[in-house]
Amino acid sequence: MRFTTSFLPLVGLGATLASGSPAATPAMPTVRLDYSTVVAATGNSSLGYYKYQNIRVAAPPTGSLRWAKPQWPTTEKAINNGSLASADVSCQTSEDWKEAPVMVWTYGGGFSGGSKFRDTPEGLFSISKDFIAVYYNYRLGLTGLGNGPTFNHEGGTSNTALWDVQHAFEWTKKYISAFGGDTEQITAVGFSAGASQVLFQMTRFAGHAPQLFNRAYVMSPGFVPGAGHHHAEEFWLNVSSAVDCNGGHLDCMRNVDFAKLNNATNDVVKKYTYQFQPRVDGNFVADTYEAQFYQKNFNFSGPLVITHELHETNSSPWAGVNTTEDVAKYLKIFFPAITDDIVQEALRLHPESAYTSPGLRFADMKQSFDLTAHNLAVTQTLNNHTWNAAVALGPATHGTDQQYYFYSTYQLSPSTGNPTLGGPPGGGMGPPGIPVDPAIAVKMQKYMLSFILKGDPNALWKNDKLYWPMYDEKKSDSGTQLIFNTTFTVGPNDLATEKTLFWNKALWY
Ligand SMILES: *[C@@H]1O[C@H](CO)[C@@H](O)[C@H](O)[C@H]1NC(C)=O
Ligand SMILES: *[C@@H]1O[C@H](CO)[C@@H](O)[C@H](O)[C@H]1NC(C)=O
Ligand SMILES: *[C@@H]1O[C@H](CO)[C@@H](O)[C@H](O)[C@H]1NC(C)=O
Ligand SMILES: *[C@@H]1O[C@H](CO)[C@@H](O)[C@H](O)[C@H]1NC(C)=O
Ligand SMILES: *[C@@H]1O[C@H](CO)[C@@H](O)[C@H](O)[C@H]1NC(C)=O
Ligand SMILES: *[C@@H]1O[C@H](CO)[C@@H](O)[C@H](O)[C@H]1NC(C)=O
Ligand SMILES: *[C@@H]1O[C@H](CO)[C@@H](O)[C@H](O)[C@H]1NC(C)=O
Ligand SMILES: *[C@@H]1O[C@H](CO)[C@@H](O)[C@H](O)[C@H]1NC(C)=O
Repeated sequence: MRFTTSFLPLVGLGATLASGSPAATPAMPTVRLDYSTVVAATGNSSLGYYKYQNIRVAAPPTGSLRWAKPQWPTTEKAINNGSLASADVSCQTSEDWKEAPVMVWTYGGGFSGGSKFRDTPEGLFSISKDFIAVYYNYRLGLTGLGNGPTFNHEGGTSNTALWDVQHAFEWTKKYISAFGGDTEQITAVGFSAGASQVLFQMTRFAGHAPQLFNRAYVMSPGFVPGAGHHHAEEFWLNVSSAVDCNGGHLDCMRNVDFAKLNNATNDVVKKYTYQFQPRVDGNFVADTYEAQFYQKNFNFSGPLVITHELHETNSSPWAGVNTTEDVAKYLKIFFPAITDDIVQEALRLHPESAYTSPGLRFADMKQSFDLTAHNLAVTQTLNNHTWNAAVALGPATHGTDQQYYFYSTYQLSPSTGNPTLGGPPGGGMGPPGIPVDPAIAVKMQKYMLSFILKGDPNALWKNDKLYWPMYDEKKSDSGTQLIFNTTFTVGPNDLATEKTLFWNKALWY
């Protein structure tokens, strides 16, 4: 998606190209779309697949399109050899292949970091080439999450980050058949904020919108269900003053140099511990997605896998929370409109005696409200007919599993671009440098690929991995999940608790 223009100056893009993409050879195949001709940028027949790189999927969201809904791109005369924009499609080299299943990847990064350059699919392609991978960017930070009454009165579109993801799926529906993809076998795969993006798409417009994909593989969905016009308004006005646009008028804000805007945003985020989050806007996000799921306000009829880490955030104390009073103070930072009785309820459900420090107590609350509680809502809404898993590998902190799912011994073409451009480096990439056991990684990749290819993690490579039962398959009270550990096991689900249900209610609304 050309959306990176809003995050990195064109110079930056040019520089990344000079730094490394292999030149396209005349042997590279070409795909003609109605607005652009794209030639594969890399890949070869002995590797078995091609990569079409930097395909424009939307008009650059700059100038009057900053904080506007994504627009379709205009016609491009130049042949795009990978230098024009920034969505990637990887597919197998066989020219007569048709109707391959499609994986659409949505990266995480706390809605303020991340990019399509991370977690690329080489490792998956070394197991099977019978699918197509689509990687794209979406707007991040303030350009993706402008919100609040002044912003709206001025004509800004809330939550453009979510509109961008909808657009990327619409692009896939419209154009992926030109690359040999089957538009009826699209799997949305996402991690962290990217996993929440998938859930926001299912529930968008309270379910009164077409289903964009057929299957979903949702890993550690992250999203703080904050609320309140007041908070969003304050943030918008604070950033606008910092860039000399007092009053937050859009005509002024749309003219601010992106790097300046981004720096000012990061400063305000840091100073006031602001958490970027999509906010309920009454339209695209008609309510929190948990509320939507429980009310059956969603449009998704396909199979779904949903997973979490055992220690997403709860193994290290939350910085700044040193005393019992700080626990309440931080709840108010995340949820400014929370009332004292709800704070008391949160404290009761996470009793002081269960933790060795106030910082760990808050970190465990954060793990529930930002991450794991979402999973139970989705599971119950789909009548427990989902494949669930918990990750116990290594530290099992947020993102540990990503290093296994995207394990690869080679990279087809070097990453182009800086993965942290687009906003403050958000959480969500996972801890770097965990030693990955390749045998475990390949098993996890096989579950994921089996799901992408067949809609069932058990359908392929049956003898290579443990059978993964659905949540409701064993009829146990707590539900069932697969546990990814040094040895895989099947055990009770750990999320069906009073605590989880409490956080899902979002009683600070
Ligand atoms: C790719 O396209 C750009 C712009 O059209 C052009 O300047 C460049 O020479 C092309 N590169 C190759 C390797 O064909
Ligand atoms: C194709 O890939 C193989 C295996 O990595 C490599 O040895 C060969 O040089 C590549 N050919 C081209 C033309 O890039
Ligand atoms: C749900 O998605 C399907 C498939 O895209 C579509 O036909 C249907 O109209 C959608 N439902 C609603 C209420 O929009
Ligand atoms: C906005 O700035 C005020 C101080 O002027 C501060 O109290 C408030 O916390 C800030 N809010 C946000 C969301 O940045
Ligand atoms: C933004 O911040 C970076 C890093 O601190 C700095 O190098 C850059 O000059 C700043 N840019 C602008 C336009 O303020
Ligand atoms: C919490 O403790 C850290 C040092 O451990 C200190 O830097 C910080 O200021 C303290 N926070 C509060 C709110 O007291
Ligand atoms: C789903 O599982 C939960 C236990 O986690 C149970 O309370 C609930 O009744 C089940 N729902 C259905 C529809 O089976
Ligand atoms: C994961 O495996 C380790 C090593 O065998 C074990 O100590 C730990 O209890 C296991 N964790 C879970 C949740 O099964």
